[in-house]
Amino acid sequence: MRYLCHVLSILILSSIPALLFGQIITWKEIHPGIWKGTAGKPDAYDLLKAAEATASPALARLPKQDFPLDQTAITCQLNNGKSYVRLPLQRDEQLYGFGLNFQTIHQRGRIMQLHADHYGKSDNGRTHAPVPFYVSSLGYGVFVNSAKYIDVYAGSGVRKDAKNPPKVMDRNTDKNWEAHPYSDAVEMLIPAEGIEIYVFAGPKPVNAIERFNLMSGGGCLPPRWGLGFTQRVHRLYTDEQVKQEAKAFEEKGYPLDFIGLEPGWQSKSYPCTFEWDRTRFPDPARFVKEMDQMGVKINLWTNPYVSPDAAIYKNIAPYTGTHTVWNGIVPDLSMPQARKILFDQFEKEHVRIGVSGYKIDEVDGFDSYLWPDVATFPSGHSSEQIRQTYGLLVQKHSFDMFRRNNMRTYGLVRASNAGGAPFPYVIYNDNYSHEDFITALINSGYTGVLWTPEVRASKTAEEWLRRFQTVCFSPMAMINAWSSSMQPWTFPEVAPQIKALAELRMQMMPYWYTEFAKYHYNGTPPFRGMSLEEGFGMNVRKEKTPTNLQDNPYEEAVTREVKDQYMAGEYLLVAPLFTGQTTRKVILPKGKWYDFYTGKLAGDGEVITITPGMDRIPVFVKDGGIIPMMPASLHAPRAGQKTDIEIRHYGQKNGSYRLYDDDGETFAYEKGAFAWRTIHVERAGGRLKGSISAPENGKPNSVGNVTWRFMTE
Ligand code: GAL
Repeated sequence: MRYLCHVLSILILSSIPALLFGQIITWKEIHPGIWKGTAGKPDAYDLLKAAEATASPALARLPKQDFPLDQTAITCQLNNGKSYVRLPLQRDEQLYGFGLNFQTIHQRGRIMQLHADHYGKSDNGRTHAPVPFYVSSLGYGVFVNSAKYIDVYAGSGVRKDAKNPPKVMDRNTDKNWEAHPYSDAVEMLIPAEGIEIYVFAGPKPVNAIERFNLMSGGGCLPPRWGLGFTQRVHRLYTDEQVKQEAKAFEEKGYPLDFIGLEPGWQSKSYPCTFEWDRTRFPDPARFVKEMDQMGVKINLWTNPYVSPDAAIYKNIAPYTGTHTVWNGIVPDLSMPQARKILFDQFEKEHVRIGVSGYKIDEVDGFDSYLWPDVATFPSGHSSEQIRQTYGLLVQKHSFDMFRRNNMRTYGLVRASNAGGAPFPYVIYNDNYSHEDFITALINSGYTGVLWTPEVRASKTAEEWLRRFQTVCFSPMAMINAWSSSMQPWTFPEVAPQIKALAELRMQMMPYWYTEFAKYHYNGTPPFRGMSLEEGFGMNVRKEKTPTNLQDNPYEEAVTREVKDQYMAGEYLLVAPLFTGQTTRKVILPKGKWYDFYTGKLAGDGEVITITPGMDRIPVFVKDGGIIPMMPASLHAPRAGQKTDIEIRHYGQKNGSYRLYDDDGETFAYEKGAFAWRTIHVERAGGRLKGSISAPENGKPNSVGNVTWRFMTE
């Protein structure tokens, strides 16, 4: 009896927070391995609504999984008009994501407020993509679908009723006393009277990310030309200067697929007219056509803040917010009327004459110039909600405009959020720390966005080369010379190496294109952190920092993170060097890894130290890795063009790969006009032999002759 009372009192006590003050979370499995939980009254406008997310059909084909957490341990409470959510954590569990971070990868223990902003040199939640999604090393993911600023305590707070409380220690005598006691929960505060929360099953962490990406339609599929090289020219270049630039690329033999025009193409900018400057570009249609004949597409810089001198000013004015940005009015793009006026103008002035894409700038922050939170918008959505979703809105509705014209696009944007994975835009910023840029590239894969470590200017040839190396192993290979006017050959002493790198980027086009197809069809991020790679130790090393023991006798444990190597596609591990570095360590996951350039064995699940010289960026291939390559060319293959393929195999294991194909330019793939060809490399009678499945009748086939190269034999 006493035992029964005890059990009953535990049951009653432990359920008090959930029942008396709590909101019941109603869970529903909406796709295999994805559960949607609702509690209270969530806001009517949220991230997925702004993105108009529609799930990928691929989700239905995924295997069933069990709910990956203890459902009863996920609680929600309403307090003072805000929702408070709590999710359990286990010991040794690690967390990744919570938006596009620039300095940290492991997020457990961190405190932040997710808030769309330009990254201000601290991972405090203010970032270009403040995505409220995290993935756990235990193989599940969690997403809060809210367009509000969310306070996140990612395993930092300790509740009195914690199931796994930290050990109480005496700081006077115990050397192990910790300033950050163990916390067994993620807690989030959402300023709304209810929540919509999603849980994604694995089994592996990468599977949870795939599910998250597929829920909003799968990752974007850029046109082939988008994966070639792009140069952004000086902001005040004229049409003649742009043509000269493209000619110089061709004459010198540097690949170039698209050129970005910066603010000076517009008659006025900051605020913008979205109209051509007729002194610099007297005949835009002819200019765009001539560039196209040279094999070079045109991308236009803009921000969305409308100048009083813009032709659309009067029409759009009723659909703008109360505050201006650089004296431009701010279209409320959550309203169909506003986006129709803005994007009809884009379509008429730019897209119809062949402009291939945009760089949509300054939709993130900083607070000093963006609309303040006291602004109001005619849709009735709060300034905060518009801020959190503005990046999504510009991407969604410009992408739709291109789809209406059956032209694929690939551009740049400075803000995004959950639901943005299907939009063909890459994030960039003004920060320009090479190290932070690589951390962001790693984090982009945990967060459903793309990031480019763009090259702008460099003080030395070494820096130029090191930066160029990483941009060629990223979603967008770009020089942004909007202010520097630099060109790939600006440092003659490294010009040949730069050219070889740009050519390598082109040679790898079949691989990059297929890896993006996997992003689209399977949700697998093409650039990702090492923790998602099997056989890469998940354990986070906590090390005691060398503190001044006199001032503070209690050393703090800090987390050592691997922020300088990442996975590029299925088989490649990239280990860049930064300026001043001549040697570095590379952690190879379990199994054998081979040098990408020579095919020689580099190591077997071990930490290696390399001194690679200046010319190459260290890249390693997994045992059995297959990399399809094409001949180097100045431009990406156009629709219908056949390209010879060299299929490289690395290591000793048999290998397989699925090579993706479609026209590379239109949306025909959405109607089934695409093909996957299966490649096998097998050892028979001591020798490796390759095979590729025959092209399917009636399906696109851009593959010409196929040759095989067994790099390790
Ligand atoms: C910045 C942007 C740069 C460049 C510049 C032009 O905000 O990040 O890449 O486009 O504007 O004014």
